[in-house]
Amino acid sequence: MPAPRQKRKTVTVLFCDVTGSTALGERLDPESFRQVMRRYFEAARAVIEQHGGTVEKFIGDAVMAVFGVPVLHEDDALRAVRAAAGLREQIAVLNRGLEADFGASVSVRTGVNTGQVVTGTDERLATGDAVNLAARLEQAAAPGEIVIGPQTWRLVRDAVEAEPLGPLQLKGKSAPVTAYRLLRVRGDVDPRARVGGAPLVGRGSQLRMLADAFANVVAERSCGLFTVLGMAGVGKSRLAAEFLRGIDARVVTGTCLSYGQGITYWPVVSIVRQLLDTDHGCVGAAQLMAGDAKVAAAVNVLVGEQAAVTSPTEIAWAVRKLVESSAGLMPVVAVVDDLHWGEPALFDLIEHIADFSRDAPILILCMARPELLDSRPGWGGGKLNATSLLLEPLQPAETTTLINELVPAGSDLNPQLRERVQITAGGNPLFVEEMLALLAESGSGDLAVPATIAALLAARLDQLAPAERTVLECGSVEGQSFHQGPVQVMAPDEPDVPRRLMALIHKDLVRPDRAVLPGEDAFRFRHLLIRDAAYQALAKTDRAQLHETFARWLEEHGTELAELDEITGYHLEQAFGYRRELGPADEQARQLAADAAAHLDKAGRRAMNRGDTGAAVNLLERAEALLPAPQLNLRLQQSLIRGLGESGRFDDAISRAARIADACAAAGDRVGELRARLAGAIWQVSIDPNRWSARLRALVQEARPAIEQDGDAAASAVLEHAAGEVDFMRGQNGAALAAYTRAMRHARQADQLWFEASSRGWAATAMAMGPTPRAEALRWLEDADAQSTVFQPHLVLMRARTLAELGRFDQARPLLTETLAQMNERGMRLQVATWMQLAWEIEMLVGDHAAAERAARQGCEQLERLGEHSFLSTQACELAEALYALGRYGEAEQWALRGLELGGRDDLLTQVLGLGVRSRILARKGQASAALALAEEADSLATTSDSPWLQGDAALDLAEVLHLTGDRMRAAEMTQRAIDCYQRNGATARVARAQRLTAAWTSGSSPASG
Ligand SMILES: Nc1ncnc2c1ncn2[C@@H]1O[C@H](COP(=O)(O)OP(=O)(O)O)[C@@H](O)[C@H]1O
Ligand SMILES: [Mg+2]
Repeated sequence: MPAPRQKRKTVTVLFCDVTGSTALGERLDPESFRQVMRRYFEAARAVIEQHGGTVEKFIGDAVMAVFGVPVLHEDDALRAVRAAAGLREQIAVLNRGLEADFGASVSVRTGVNTGQVVTGTDERLATGDAVNLAARLEQAAAPGEIVIGPQTWRLVRDAVEAEPLGPLQLKGKSAPVTAYRLLRVRGDVDPRARVGGAPLVGRGSQLRMLADAFANVVAERSCGLFTVLGMAGVGKSRLAAEFLRGIDARVVTGTCLSYGQGITYWPVVSIVRQLLDTDHGCVGAAQLMAGDAKVAAAVNVLVGEQAAVTSPTEIAWAVRKLVESSAGLMPVVAVVDDLHWGEPALFDLIEHIADFSRDAPILILCMARPELLDSRPGWGGGKLNATSLLLEPLQPAETTTLINELVPAGSDLNPQLRERVQITAGGNPLFVEEMLALLAESGSGDLAVPATIAALLAARLDQLAPAERTVLECGSVEGQSFHQGPVQVMAPDEPDVPRRLMALIHKDLVRPDRAVLPGEDAFRFRHLLIRDAAYQALAKTDRAQLHETFARWLEEHGTELAELDEITGYHLEQAFGYRRELGPADEQARQLAADAAAHLDKAGRRAMNRGDTGAAVNLLERAEALLPAPQLNLRLQQSLIRGLGESGRFDDAISRAARIADACAAAGDRVGELRARLAGAIWQVSIDPNRWSARLRALVQEARPAIEQDGDAAASAVLEHAAGEVDFMRGQNGAALAAYTRAMRHARQADQLWFEASSRGWAATAMAMGPTPRAEALRWLEDADAQSTVFQPHLVLMRARTLAELGRFDQARPLLTETLAQMNERGMRLQVATWMQLAWEIEMLVGDHAAAERAARQGCEQLERLGEHSFLSTQACELAEALYALGRYGEAEQWALRGLELGGRDDLLTQVLGLGVRSRILARKGQASAALALAEEADSLATTSDSPWLQGDAALDLAEVLHLTGDRMRAAEMTQRAIDCYQRNGATARVARAQRLTAAWTSGSSPASG
């Protein structure tokens, strides 16, 4: 085993010492004295640990604690200062007891300092200059005083009130040190709201708008969506920070990555992790995870703890539930920064929370550059609870104020230069800040003012010492936030990376940040434009190499990242891209491309599992582009074609399939060609079933021998899926079920979870429609549903239908109601509308025709409102059927005609239903031969399918027509045939219904009483 390495870390050290303890010891007997000291140490330890520090050791009467070990927090310095202040209060409390018990009291002197220490990995002992300085500061403090060092002060100055102590000449230090006496720590300041530089200039009305929006969500316990738009550097993040530090709320944050294509959920994962943090998370969120298996399932897939199939709808719902439950005790503000880099599924998720969350005070605060409106034109539009704000540049007078704030008093900024800064900045505070920092650092008064912010930042970075610059550039490769570990690996010649980082913190170019990787220290460029400037300065050869180094480091250390493959793939892709720009690819470069493709492919497949097809297509297309030209990865292509189709890009799916098929044919790969053609034909059928069904059928027959012989699992899955579709369209549910079941098995073998799940969904439909006896079908459906914890309404509803067919209405009805409610919760409006069909069906079986009519009408109305017509045809005919049963023949006829007109000739269910209603109405009008013709037509259509219920229903309609037209003999025959169909299928409720109806005809009462 390798020896544990020593690590250099930037931490904050707290030293405190009890003064007057010698005197106290003299006054008290030894036993009482020990008791007093024990109380003091206990109090100290409790306060320190409460603020996240670790007590390192007790040295005589002194306590030494460290903040930032084992993990650095962005706010360690503030935690330490808070702990110091807290301890001072505790001592006051303790003193009251001491006075009462022993007539004595103690006071503490405290020193707090931030800097580097050396820590072993096992031992907690920290040593180094920073520790010594903390001890010296403690010695310099008067009893009851807290003295903080210069580095600490820089990190906490916005959160505290402190006054400078003249330069301290400390033992063992050559230069004097500027230290500060802590007066008080300001109220509950969010650590991320720490702001440097000038006090806020202007922005009063914007802050009021934010405060109003927040007050509103708190008062109404509702959700608000607030979007701040503005160009880079104008002050969006600052505005948010100022707002956040004035409110009492739980703040969780996430930032979209500038290279976030295909990394849909990065900010959401960050927010969810904060809500579920074991130390600082929300109790409500943790309870929900423990108590709601569906939320837990979706969240675990989201954070990468489980590989399973889910959907963006399900993830959005689960995240909303989590946020709502977190807002039980305290309002939640969820901040999403740089939203303009977000993916569509992220936009949907945020809108879902804004639209659906109830009874919980939640403010979603988004910040974005105006180009957000290019990728999502209607963002926030049409919502009563949404506000968007365009943050304009500062007014000229405000810029002047800002310059005055930033130019240190007494320094004489030459007025011409001042004016040029004012004009060139154009009201952009980042520009002003950076220009003045550049002037201050260069020390010369006659610097040119660069014309753009990019040029300005480049000039400013030029001023850095080479070592600092190297560290900064290495950091920029990871992104705006970066970790220390990889920087060390990327800059192997730099002996003291932590020290360089500390210097960069001093120059306010980077700040400590919350680490994404466990056990790592993290930093963040103060502004993304600074990161971009540092990155731009890198030569392409360096970029190529650094991206690769980072990716390799991450492969090893980033295993806890949910998006490991997305990120590693991205960096390898970049490395390869730069290499290719520099020259032809050698063997090593080819390996790089292959590795990148492998990561992106894996990430793409995971995105397919989540149903995030947009991201999947992005990742898979990038993987494809990395493969050498003649090489085809058919499995990847198959996923890609599917992903394109599923995300509605049918034409792209079809043309890609054709291209791949041609390429395979040219290369003499017969199986590959068939595979691609099958994958494409599925989407052809979904666009134009009339033309393509027959072709798909022929293609399946043609492909089967070759694919079966070849034995590739992924190819077999496509084949069987297509075969299932062919059988299903022909009404052969039994055969379809068998094919889909085979597709499931092959998909599982090929590790295509999403394909397995989608095949299972189709199999469930075939099972529910087909000839399998109902009791067995029920078991199958229960079993299928149990395969996964994720919400699969389709499987549940098929089960409800089967229960109803078995006459178990007391189970079927609540299952339906509950599932529809859950779908509504998730915003699945269209699906809810289409599933009103099942409500109709259950009520028809129960015999409550009025309820059936209400259900069908509701479904029709909702579908019309949503502009959806492909399901409307069937539902219109169902409404007609209910109206007929109620004896409202005129209305029934109209709806039947409407449904038949909307539905195609090949829409079997609609035809049988619609013709059935029409034939009986004609019979009642006395048009016997026309009625018979229609009823016979419906009957012969129904027998093309193997659905017993459809055959039975058609037979029953024909029986009624025969009965009405006086042919009692054949009517009785037909009735018996219907009942036989139902009975063979074990559908007891259908048998009962048929008997009720025939009893009603023979007793001569109207069908309405049936
Ligand atoms: N109104 C303001 N007054 C003082 N400083 C500001 C103001 N607005 C922004 N700044 C400073 O300008 C810099 C850029 O602002 P930032 O909020 O990061 O911009 P954005 O998020 O819009 O890109 C930050 O250092 C910030 O503190
Ligand atoms: Mg910002």
